[in-house]
Amino acid sequence: MSGVVLILYIALPAFVANGMPVIASRLRMLSVLATPIDHGALWRGKPLLGKNKTWRGLIVAMGGAGFVAVLQFLVLPPVYVTSYAYENIVFAFLFGLFVGLLVIVGDALGSVIKRQLGIESGAPCIPLDQIDYMLVFIVGTLMFIHWTLEAVLLLLCITFFLNLAVNALAYVTGIKNTVW
Ligand code: CTP
Ligand code: MG
Repeated sequence: MSGVVLILYIALPAFVANGMPVIASRLRMLSVLATPIDHGALWRGKPLLGKNKTWRGLIVAMGGAGFVAVLQFLVLPPVYVTSYAYENIVFAFLFGLFVGLLVIVGDALGSVIKRQLGIESGAPCIPLDQIDYMLVFIVGTLMFIHWTLEAVLLLLCITFFLNLAVNALAYVTGIKNTVW
């Protein structure tokens, strides 16, 4: 696998984790879990995360990334990833769950920043919306993946444009209600 393809393949569980909450919400899956993680909590007079960050999002992101990591292990474990992450099927699954958690933490941190800036839930904040989850995925996997500066910059750039494109597509096809 060559450079760019390999980087995207390593980030695949994170891309899937990021997309799962939108799909779950659209398909009205696990509605019982669709309650805000912050339970309406305020911080400095503003919502901590806001109503759009739900337990369902966390669960489906972790499940989706766990599933993809197991598939990757079975089909073609990313060789670039070292230190145990894809050593066996159980480790791959646990690594995937961890990636899902990182993605949702990154996404939630983005929401904290947006709320503190006075940006409403669901309103756009470019480029934070597009790359927050990938930043935390990269930092959180530093102990598993030999990230180079070049790979990080490339991945962030691709993630930014890919998210804009996918969101535009999701909007046109009616999966999302907003263009961002
Ligand atoms: N979502 C969720 N739980 C999460 C993250 C996302 O249920 N932890 C769902 C919500 O339906 C959300 C949608 O996925 O509206 C899109 O996610 P995102 O764009 O990250 O959130 P926003 O709605 O833009 O909210 P925010 O302004 O807080 O980023
Ligand atoms: Mg958004």
